[in-house]
Amino acid sequence: MQSPYSSVYKKRSAAVQPPAAPNAFDFFLPCPRGVEAALADEVKALAEHSPTLRAGMPTPGGLPVQGSLTDAMRLNLHCRLPSRVLLLGGSCSYADAEDIYHLARDLAWEKWFDVTQALRVDVTAEHSPLASIKFAALRVKDGICDRFRALTGERPDVDTAHPDVRIHLHLREADALLYLDTSGEPLFKRGWRSEHGAAPLKEHLAAGLLKLSGWTPDDVLFDPLCGSGTLVIEAAQMAANRAAGLDRSFGFEALQGFDMDAWNALREQARQAVRPLTPGQFFAADIDPANVRMTLDNARRAGVDGAIAAQAGDVIAAVPPVDAAALPAGQAAWLISNPPYNERIAPEGEAADDFAPQLARTLKQRFAGWHVALLAADLHWDKALRLKPRRRIVLFNGTIECRLMLIDMVAGSARG
Ligand SMILES: C[S@@+](CC[C@H](N)C(=O)[O-])C[C@H]1O[C@@H](n2cnc3c(N)ncnc32)[C@H](O)[C@@H]1O
Repeated sequence: MQSPYSSVYKKRSAAVQPPAAPNAFDFFLPCPRGVEAALADEVKALAEHSPTLRAGMPTPGGLPVQGSLTDAMRLNLHCRLPSRVLLLGGSCSYADAEDIYHLARDLAWEKWFDVTQALRVDVTAEHSPLASIKFAALRVKDGICDRFRALTGERPDVDTAHPDVRIHLHLREADALLYLDTSGEPLFKRGWRSEHGAAPLKEHLAAGLLKLSGWTPDDVLFDPLCGSGTLVIEAAQMAANRAAGLDRSFGFEALQGFDMDAWNALREQARQAVRPLTPGQFFAADIDPANVRMTLDNARRAGVDGAIAAQAGDVIAAVPPVDAAALPAGQAAWLISNPPYNERIAPEGEAADDFAPQLARTLKQRFAGWHVALLAADLHWDKALRLKPRRRIVLFNGTIECRLMLIDMVAGSARG
């Protein structure tokens, strides 16, 4: 299918080339900062099943990708690390919001959706000289509406809560990029979470922790501070080869140009690829019994409940759910978690302070042979923990800079 945007590429964009083949579109996949290389690996693994799909060079916060519209559906269905799959419409250099208005007005949106579908325009910016990026987004909406009014005599509605179509404007210092969002709701909304604890990890960040830690889908996983269960559920879905987006719908389903027969075939193939899990690999605990119930409810909706054992308990009193030394060769035991830092909820009658050293003592005394990965927003939390990480990986939880601390609990590895 010829890109309806080719003429705009030629007219306005010096930096973005027209698609190399009729079937090649440019996409951008935003992701949490720190997981870009892991996302590139994820896309390369998918590309083994699609000759048209190509991962570009990661940039901070995302990955450019080239591929067909079927590849876009494939990326939405399978990728765990991006928050969206954005289809590049066109780009231009800009001096003011009027340049951005003209870019929006000149793109052939009518090839993708019609005037009866409601719009939402989002905007992000890095080093934009514009005084108001919100005004730029408003001019994108005006450009699209004016185009439809010239073509049909009517304007599409705007609906920020339940849009049929999402447009994304990204402003760089000198150029503006306009994308059609093929995902709809962000991809970290997998469709299984109906409740959440006070501070749940977003699913794509949880998947990032798992991939960056070195945990593999054959390994044992224990999250003793599980909250709503995000880490164990993501991990169990990976082990079951259950596609991340199997239980949700996507923005492209409301767009023209996407082959719904190909989509149904992709989804059916993904359903057939799900493997049964055996108990004894995934373990979760939390001091709050309501969180344990929530984890099991979420796991049921995510199709992995039989595989996850969850119970209430204080992490300081935790014992390993498996003997790491007794695991078969090639299977490792991992404790991966995002602790509440210095705010341990202590069982009644106990002091809640000194959480980090108490946790360290538990790990040293009982978890020899385990690999530990802890996400900390306090960049020096390992000093409070008094355990020496083998690696400290920089990554961002939204705008919050964090460290993923990898610690191997082998005899003699710990200080203090
Ligand atoms: C930052 S949240 C974890 C969020 C979780 N990763 C998720 O995605 O929902 C920390 C969790 O630790 C639990 N917690 C706090 N103190 C604890 C303790 N002493 N033992 C076990 N769990 C504890 C809290 O109830 C909370 O659910």
